[in-house]
Amino acid sequence: MDQPVVPHVVFLPFPALGHVKPMLMLAELLSHAGFEATFINSNHIQDRFEHSTNIVTMYCRFPRFQFRSIPDGLPSDHPRSGSAIIDLLISSRGESRTEFRDLLVHLGQKNGRWEPPTCIIADGIMSFAIDVAEELKIPIITFRTQSACSTWTYFHLTKLIEEGEVPFQGDVDMEKTITCIPGLEGTFRCRDLPSICRLKEANDPLLQFFIKETAAMPRASGLILNTFDRLESSMVSELGSLFSKIYTLGPLQGLFDTFANSPCATTSSDGLMWKEDRGCIAWLDSHPSRSVIYVSFGSLVGLFRDQLLEFWHGLVNSGKPFLWVIRSDSIMGEDGGVREVPLELKVATEERGCIVDWAPQEEVLAHPAIGGFLTHSGWNSTLESIFAGVPMICWPMIADQPVNSRCVSELWKIGFDMKDKSGRDLIEKLVRNLMESDEIVKSTVEFAGMARDSVKEGGSSYSNLQKLIEDIKSMSL
Ligand code: UDX
Repeated sequence: MDQPVVPHVVFLPFPALGHVKPMLMLAELLSHAGFEATFINSNHIQDRFEHSTNIVTMYCRFPRFQFRSIPDGLPSDHPRSGSAIIDLLISSRGESRTEFRDLLVHLGQKNGRWEPPTCIIADGIMSFAIDVAEELKIPIITFRTQSACSTWTYFHLTKLIEEGEVPFQGDVDMEKTITCIPGLEGTFRCRDLPSICRLKEANDPLLQFFIKETAAMPRASGLILNTFDRLESSMVSELGSLFSKIYTLGPLQGLFDTFANSPCATTSSDGLMWKEDRGCIAWLDSHPSRSVIYVSFGSLVGLFRDQLLEFWHGLVNSGKPFLWVIRSDSIMGEDGGVREVPLELKVATEERGCIVDWAPQEEVLAHPAIGGFLTHSGWNSTLESIFAGVPMICWPMIADQPVNSRCVSELWKIGFDMKDKSGRDLIEKLVRNLMESDEIVKSTVEFAGMARDSVKEGGSSYSNLQKLIEDIKSMSL
C-alpha cells in the first residue's frame, strides 16, 4: 500500500525578529500537524539561532523540521536594526532570490526525480518568492505579519499618492482626515498612516518598494494574517476583495497554547535572538496585582539618550513601579553610534524599577503584576498585549506602528496614543491615567476574552488553521 504523502512546506520569513517569530510559530503548528517543514533564515539570523538551546529541543520534537539559510545581501558586520532596517529591506532581494531558487531546486531533487515542496509560505514583503514559486510551479501562500488594517492601508498607497494625500506637502495639517481608504473613512488622520507616507518624494525607493511588494501579494493563492476575526472583521472582509482565501490565525501564541495544551507554553522562538533576563519575573512576583507598567520598544527601534531620559523622568514621576527593556543596541548618540545605558539611570532606577536587556515578554505580559504596557506598537507586541488583557500607551515610530496605535486608541479603545508627542509630563500623566482607568481595563479584558475564544477549539483562528492544513494537504494530492 502507498504511504500517505507528507506535505512539505518551505517557510521564508523577512529576516527581522518581528517577522521571523510569527513565521516560526506557524511552522511549529504545521509541524505539529505532521508536516515536513524547511525554515529558511538569513545567515545572520541563523547564526544567532545556532547559539540557542531551543534549536536542539525543536529538532527533537519535530524530526521533520530543518533550518536552512541564505544571505540577506548585507556584509556580516553591517547593522540590521534602527535606521539600518532600510538597508536590509532593499538588500534582501538580489542575492537572496538566486539562493532561494537554488535551494528550492535542491530540495526538490529526490532520488533523481523532481518532487518539489508542496507549498511555500513566504513573508508578504518577499515578493521574489512569488516570482520563483511561479517559475517552479510551486503553490505559494503569502503571510503578512502585520494587522489586517495595516495591510489594507498599504494596498492604498498608490491611491493616496494619486489623490495628492501622500507624500505630505509642505506644512500639511497632520490632523487632516483621510477619506480615500474604504472602510476607514474618517478614522485615520495623516499622522496615522504608515511611516513611509512621511517620505518627501512619491518616487522614493522605499515607498515604491512597499507599493511593489504589496501589489504582488494577491498573486499568491492565499493570505495568512496574525489577527483574529472579531478584532478586525471589517478589514478582513475588505481584503476579501483581493484574496480568495484568507486565513486569520491570530493570536498565533494563543493557538500554540491550545495545541501544546498548556497556557503560555514557550515557543522555540523565545530567547532565540537575545538571552532573556528571567530575573524580572521574580521582581514582578514581589509586586501587587496590576501595579507595574511594562516598557518595551521591540527589537528594532532605537532611542536617543535625551528621549530615554524623558521617558525615565516620566515613569519615575508617575509613582508607578516599572519594568523596562533597554536593549544594549538601542540607545543612539547624535552621531548614530550606539550608547550605553547611563549609569546614573541604572542606579537611580533600583528603588522603583527594573531594567533588563531583554525580557520573556509574553510571560511578562501574562504576569498579574502588570497593569499597563508602554509600547512602540509593533504588531506582535500589540497582539500579545491584547491577548494578555493589558492596556497600552502607544509611542509609535516606524512602519505600521502609527496605524496600530490609532486602532488601539480609536477603534478598540484599549489604550492611549502618544503619536508625535513625548516629554516627561505627558508620560507621567498617561501612565497614571492608564493604570487608574477602569473603563480601559474593562474593554481590554473583553478583547482578551475574544482573543482566547478565537484560538479555542471551534474558534475562528482554530478553524482557519484546520482549513489551512486541509488546503495544503489537498495541494499534495
Ligand atoms: C517589527 C516592526 O517594528 C513592527 O511594527 C512590525 O509589526 C513587525 O516587525 P518589532 O519592532 O520587533 O517588529 O516589534 P514587534 O512586532 O512588537 O515584535 C517584537 C517581538 O519581540 C515581540 O514578539 C515580543 O514578544 C518580543 N520581545 C520584545 C521579547 O521577547 N522580549 C523583549 O524584551 C522585547
